[in-house]
Amino acid sequence: MNISRHRREALPRIDLAGPDRDRLLPLCRLKPGEIWQDPIVGHRVGVLDATSQEDVRRLTAGETVGLALNDPPYNFSVGGRRSTDLFQVSITEYMDFSRKWISAQLGSLADDAAFYVWTGADQRRGFAPLADLVILMREFEELSSRNFITLRNQRGYGTPMNWMSIRQELLYYTKGSPPFQPVYTLIPRILKGYYKSVGGSIRDNDARSRSPTIRAGNVWVDIQQVFYRLAENVPGAYAQKPLAAVERILAASSRAGDKVLDCFSHSGTTLIACERSGRVCYTCDVDPVFAEITIRRIEHFRQSGRTGWQWQSPFAEPEC
Ligand SMILES: C[S@@+](CC[C@H](N)C(=O)[O-])C[C@H]1O[C@@H](n2cnc3c(N)ncnc32)[C@H](O)[C@@H]1O
Repeated sequence: MNISRHRREALPRIDLAGPDRDRLLPLCRLKPGEIWQDPIVGHRVGVLDATSQEDVRRLTAGETVGLALNDPPYNFSVGGRRSTDLFQVSITEYMDFSRKWISAQLGSLADDAAFYVWTGADQRRGFAPLADLVILMREFEELSSRNFITLRNQRGYGTPMNWMSIRQELLYYTKGSPPFQPVYTLIPRILKGYYKSVGGSIRDNDARSRSPTIRAGNVWVDIQQVFYRLAENVPGAYAQKPLAAVERILAASSRAGDKVLDCFSHSGTTLIACERSGRVCYTCDVDPVFAEITIRRIEHFRQSGRTGWQWQSPFAEPEC
């Protein structure tokens, strides 16, 4: 494939106000408060507010879910620019926002449920909001902390001239005792060790594990951030998560047929991951443009088998 070095995405950031966003708004099929119901497997996509318990109940139609995964705005000025969707407010206001959306979801969790929150940590601002969020989560006594996963940042420690101060972290909590399946990477198991005596004979880890590859563990070095040369890229969506990361969460914390909740859809990663793995997704975004992109992404996937648009626009209409 001939990939131009200078190729750029067909859509700029669309959470920012301006003519690009104005052109897209009339193309959005949902208005605030409306929900799209997938006619094939029953996914739902709404233009709803994650901080409203009423909206979350409407999204799940009063059902409870065994897995909720959420990727709220991180309270950073993304790419140095803020918008209503990807906002930056005081840490006190951000904690109020966090408290509200977490409370709004609790009633929709099953007795045994996994609850994941993506968050960021700004290394120049005392690791906010990660540090604050971890403390806030202690208020929710029904949720027990279980793990804290970090994603590799290629421009992190070790590249002082090109140091990126923003980290992405994943917090894992449980309510009750939800199921958990170990998940494996594609990384070969090369270290020998963990000698243990079993029935009088000494075994190393080669003999004790059935997998030739290592488990995902809590540092996900094998998952790359999404950028415009990846097939899964969604132009215009500036805060997209890697599909592989969401698929790993689904594999570990849900089973085929389960209902999964994500109240911050954006590019619709959780919806695509659910579609590919036989789960049913209930998702929403407060912004009709991102709800529209989410619906288009699954329609595009069903038509073409492609998980994104790479650098092409999700809006094929001539005026875009
Ligand atoms: C970090 S992005 C989520 C990225 C997503 N995981 C993906 O892979 O594309 C956060 C999204 O939350 C949305 N959002 C902000 N406030 C919201 C609210 N109160 N309710 C629902 N969505 C909200 C923003 O519009 C934005 O699209």
